[in-house]
Amino acid sequence: MTTSLLHHLACGKCDAIYPCNRIHNCCPQCKGPLLARYDLVGALPTLREVLKRRPGQNRLHELGATEGGAQTPTLGEGATPLFSAGRLGTQLGLPNLLIKDEAQNPTNSFKARGMAAAMARAAELGVKAVCLPSAGNAGGAAAAYGALHGIEVHVYIPDNTPAPILHETRALGGKVKLVQGDISDASAALAPFALKNGWFSLATLHEPYRLEGKKVMGFELFYDLGKLPDVILYPTGGGTGLIGMWKAFDELQSMGWIGAERPRMVSVQVAGCAPIVHAFEQGSDHAEPWKSPERTSAFGLRVPRALGDFLILDALRKSRGTAIAVTESELLEGSHLIASTLGLQSSPEGGACVAAAQLLRQRGWLQSEQSVVLFNTGHGAKYV
Ligand SMILES: Cc1ncc(COP(=O)(O)O)c(C=O)c1O
Repeated sequence: MTTSLLHHLACGKCDAIYPCNRIHNCCPQCKGPLLARYDLVGALPTLREVLKRRPGQNRLHELGATEGGAQTPTLGEGATPLFSAGRLGTQLGLPNLLIKDEAQNPTNSFKARGMAAAMARAAELGVKAVCLPSAGNAGGAAAAYGALHGIEVHVYIPDNTPAPILHETRALGGKVKLVQGDISDASAALAPFALKNGWFSLATLHEPYRLEGKKVMGFELFYDLGKLPDVILYPTGGGTGLIGMWKAFDELQSMGWIGAERPRMVSVQVAGCAPIVHAFEQGSDHAEPWKSPERTSAFGLRVPRALGDFLILDALRKSRGTAIAVTESELLEGSHLIASTLGLQSSPEGGACVAAAQLLRQRGWLQSEQSVVLFNTGHGAKYV
């Protein structure tokens, strides 16, 4: 019997409600992203019970979407380390700096979390073939979990994606199509084939369950610290991690495990593609698509348009957070700083977060006594 308290899906934009026992992409009425909603007055476990369970992505399976719950097949994703940033923290003037090292997930990036949840649910609902445009890491993760669940995976990906990521995706059985341009171009190239072949789309926020996998990062911060940190810095492309953690905090509050307090959320982007930063600075509740995104080594941040822009901006404002863009040289220097002070080969996206922390500390936005969590979302070895 399922332990999931999943009750229905609701559109994040127009609040229309849909049943959760069949596959859905975006809201048919307004094209907004659908979000999983749980019966939070159901049989919720206590924090004490949950902490006794084995750490991992399915630890709080009542608030996961799969019917398999704790028995859902896994590649060991989640339960990534949250460690003190020691010498890096000292150098940045942030003695309470922590790093959540998502590079230690299967396929070496946090994309494993979303794909673990989405692919497991897709398999439960009878999906045989999926497709997605990817900036890189999502494609590799999709291929891995497609193999685990016996689902065919089609990935449309920019042709300048680093070779190790392409190799990983192919080695895991993903069918790769290279596209000139950025992830939006990949998405446009994919659309007619998805329709023609009946592939189910796993594009960011085009289905509800990748978000459910990503939200577990928020639960884990709470398990590890016994409270939430003061500030979270997150490298933002489509923003699923940030939106997911924000959702996790709301669910923790609904369970009575935390109060109304929230970490200040910070979106980190690159100067050559910063739609969220621009919208935040303009006071807008949605982001205009970024025209001509520049090439960057932080491939995951070259996302000109985010379907969940309004959800990201809402979380930034409600948390009294901010959005900041860093230059290419700043993010490379950030990666170098992580490597030389912590012995950690971060993704350029993780380097961008280090650069942002440094800038925000210099500007006095971050204060020395604050507990600050910085996400390293992938492994540097994938970017050769
Ligand atoms: C390493 C890495 N960090 C950050 C991101 C951005 O993630 P999101 O699209 O969830 O904001 C990506 C996306 O591809 C990524 O691969």
